[in-house]
Amino acid sequence: MNPLRDPRDRRLPRVPDPCVLVVFGVTGDLARKKLIPAVYDLANRGLLPPGFVLLGFARRDWGDGDFETVAKEAARKGARTEFRDDVWQRLAEAIRFLPGAFDDDAAFDKLAETLREVDASHGTLGNAAFYLSIPPAAFPVVLQQMERTGMADNARSGGWRRVVVEKPFGHDLGSAQELNQMVDKVFGAQDVFRIDHYLGKETVQNLLALRFANTLFEPIWNAHHIDSVQITMAEDVGIESRAGFYEETGAARDVLQNHLLQLMALTAMEEPSSFDAEALRTEKRKVLGAIRPPKDLARYTVRGQYDQGWLAGQRVSGYRSEKDVAADSRTETYAAVRLEVETRRWAGVPFYLRTGKRLPRRVTEIAVLFRKAPHLPFSKTDTEELGSNQLVVRVQPDEGMTLRFGSKVPGSAMEVRDVAMDFLYGEAFTESSPEAYERLLLDVLLGDASLFPHNQEVEDSWRVIDPIEQFWAEGGEPELYRAGEWGPAAADEMLAGDGRAWRRP
Ligand code: BG6
Repeated sequence: MNPLRDPRDRRLPRVPDPCVLVVFGVTGDLARKKLIPAVYDLANRGLLPPGFVLLGFARRDWGDGDFETVAKEAARKGARTEFRDDVWQRLAEAIRFLPGAFDDDAAFDKLAETLREVDASHGTLGNAAFYLSIPPAAFPVVLQQMERTGMADNARSGGWRRVVVEKPFGHDLGSAQELNQMVDKVFGAQDVFRIDHYLGKETVQNLLALRFANTLFEPIWNAHHIDSVQITMAEDVGIESRAGFYEETGAARDVLQNHLLQLMALTAMEEPSSFDAEALRTEKRKVLGAIRPPKDLARYTVRGQYDQGWLAGQRVSGYRSEKDVAADSRTETYAAVRLEVETRRWAGVPFYLRTGKRLPRRVTEIAVLFRKAPHLPFSKTDTEELGSNQLVVRVQPDEGMTLRFGSKVPGSAMEVRDVAMDFLYGEAFTESSPEAYERLLLDVLLGDASLFPHNQEVEDSWRVIDPIEQFWAEGGEPELYRAGEWGPAAADEMLAGDGRAWRRP
C-alpha cells in the first residue's frame, strides 16, 4: 500500500483490482440500456483496471463478435460520456460471450473453465463479479450452478467472488427471506451486493452531505421544527413493454418498497459514526425498523390505476388497454401512503410517500415542510401569501435543492410572500454526475458496499409493505386517474383529511 495515501481519502479515483464482470441475462433491457453503457463510461474515465474482462452469458446462439457488435451499439446509444473508438477498441479486446441456458450444466462448466482461462490470458487474478440481470424465478438455478461449479468460492478461485442481485428482492417478506438465505448459502455476506439504483444517484448521496456536513440543518431536523415530509417519485411514462413484470408487481412493490423507503431512511436516519458500509447500514436499518405501517390502512393508503388521457399533447391509453394487461387488472400504477417513524426525533411527523406512472412529468423529490412560526407579528392580510418554509431536494431532473421562505415584497406596505433560493448542480459544478449504475458497478468491483442495502433493510421494508398489500388484496379496486393528472382524488383527500396538501413539484 502507498504509505502516503490514507485509505479513507476518497478524492482520488480508485481503480478496482483486475477482474471479470460476468453478466447473466446480457441480452436483456437492463444490460443494454444501463450496464453496458456504464461499463463503457467507466472505461472511458480510466476507472477500469488494465486486466478487465466483460463476459456475457445468455441463451443466444452468439459468438464473441456478435456480442461485441450489440454491446458497441448499446454503449454508443446509452453512454453518458462521449463515444470514442479507441476506448471501445481496448474494451472490445476483452469482451467474451458464452451461450447457454441456466439449467445447462455443460454451459456452466464451460463458464468456470473460461474464468480460469482469462485468469491466465488477462491476469484477472481469480477475481469475478456475477451480475444477475435475470428474472427472480431464475435466481435459484443460477445460484445452484455457481455453487456446483465452485465459481462462488473465494478460496478456490484465489481472488474475490461477488454477486450483484437486482430488485425485486422477493415479492413479500417470506420470499425475500428465502431469497436471502439462498444467496447467503452460496456467497459470503460481504460478497453480496443488492442493487437499489436510487442510492447510486448523486443527489441521493448529497442528502448525506447536506445533513451531516453542515451545521445549518441538523438542529431543526426533528419533530419540533418539521411538520411533515413528502417524498414523490413521479413518472410520465406508462409501463412500456413490461406488462409481464408489472402485472405481478404494481407500484408499491416496484418503487415504494425499495426506492422510496430508502429515500425515507436517508432523510430520517441518525448520523452514522462513519461512512463505511457497516455504520451507514446500521443507521438506515434502525429507521426502517422503526417505521410502522399505518394503523388505519383504509385512510392512509391509496392506490390508483391510470386511465386513458393526454400527456404532452398526445393521447395515451389506459393501463387496462396496454399490451398483455388483463382487461380487469387490479394492479396499481399509483401508490401513496402515510408512514411514521416511531422515534423521539420523528414522533408525530407524517412521511407521505407517493409514486405513479403516467403522471404529468418525471420528477423525484424529497420535500421537508417546516412548521409555521408559532407567532406572527404581522396582520393576517400581510402574510396571506406565505406558505410553510420548505427544503426540497430535487433528486431528478434539475438536480439540486430549493429553500422556500417568506420575504417582504418591496413597497411601503408590509406584505410577506414565499420566495425560493435555488442550488443547481449544473450551475455550481462543471463536472457532470456519473450515472447511478456507473457509480454502483464501480463500487461492486471495488468491494465497497456502502450504497447497497443490507438484507435486513430489505426485510424491514417488506414488513412495512406486506400489511398494505394484504389489505389491498382483501378487496376493492385501485381508483382510476386520468393519465396526465396527479393521481387519484383519494390521494388528495388523504392529505386534506390531515389539513395538508401535496406539493405540486
Ligand atoms: C425502476 C422501476 O426500479 O425504476 C421502474 O422498476 C421505474 O418501474 C424506474 O421506471 C425509474 O428509475 P429512474 O432512475 O428513471 O427514476
